Amino acid sequence: MDVIITPTAEEASLVAARHFEVEIRQNPAAVLGLATGSTPLRLYRALIDARLDWARIRTFNLDEYLGLGPGHLQSYHHFMWENLFNHVNIRRENVSIPDGLAQNVSASCSAYEGAIRAAGGIDVQLLGIGSDGHIGFNEPSSSLASRTRIKTLTEKTRRDNARFFGSIEEVPMHVITMGIGTILDARKVVLLATGEGKADAVAGAVEGPLMAMNPASALQMHRRAVLVLDEAAASRLRHADYYRWVDANRPEWQRV
Ligand code: PGA
Repeated sequence: MDVIITPTAEEASLVAARHFEVEIRQNPAAVLGLATGSTPLRLYRALIDARLDWARIRTFNLDEYLGLGPGHLQSYHHFMWENLFNHVNIRRENVSIPDGLAQNVSASCSAYEGAIRAAGGIDVQLLGIGSDGHIGFNEPSSSLASRTRIKTLTEKTRRDNARFFGSIEEVPMHVITMGIGTILDARKVVLLATGEGKADAVAGAVEGPLMAMNPASALQMHRRAVLVLDEAAASRLRHADYYRWVDANRPEWQRV
């Protein structure tokens, strides 16, 4: 794992954004895996400001709430158009987000996996991390080999996300999410985490055992996982000084 620690959340977002900017410039037909939540907002703003060409870019989002249609203000469809897609020249047909209104959920999940395969797989996948270690909506105990499927949210995640809804009761119970196996298939993964609330989950993911109870720890099995953290999210890492030293002494060709 490549752990990059920056002084502020703002800088962490810009470093993570740079990985996507470089990918889009080098590979104008890249397949990107995208994420929602509070964390990627600054990153998306940076990508919009970079005025990149999205005409041939294809995207697959990690997850969606079951029961929420694209018009719902808290749907991840709405989030993505509002915060990124409406501001770049991406083609609507090149955007894929799990269908929150799917009638046949398992068929819809298989089709989503098939669409990722047909696109040639994901080049770079953006991830946040839940305070319980979830990536996508793969809650603790998710199979490390899981594929896109329905999941039931934990109470903790529903509480964490209640700030976007009127109350916890309004947060859907179920979601469709790419699986951990789906995420591990991406050729490169960039996880962005900021704030003290993520420090335990990050420490477990980087320095704890590989285990389903911290889904982000599965990234220990990935060949190209980059974790971009601010100081607060990195604050429980025992080997933070080592990661800083590695980053400071990176060979020039390895810098993004
Ligand atoms: P957040 O969510 O960015 O809103 O903290 C991250 C996540 O739950 O994956």
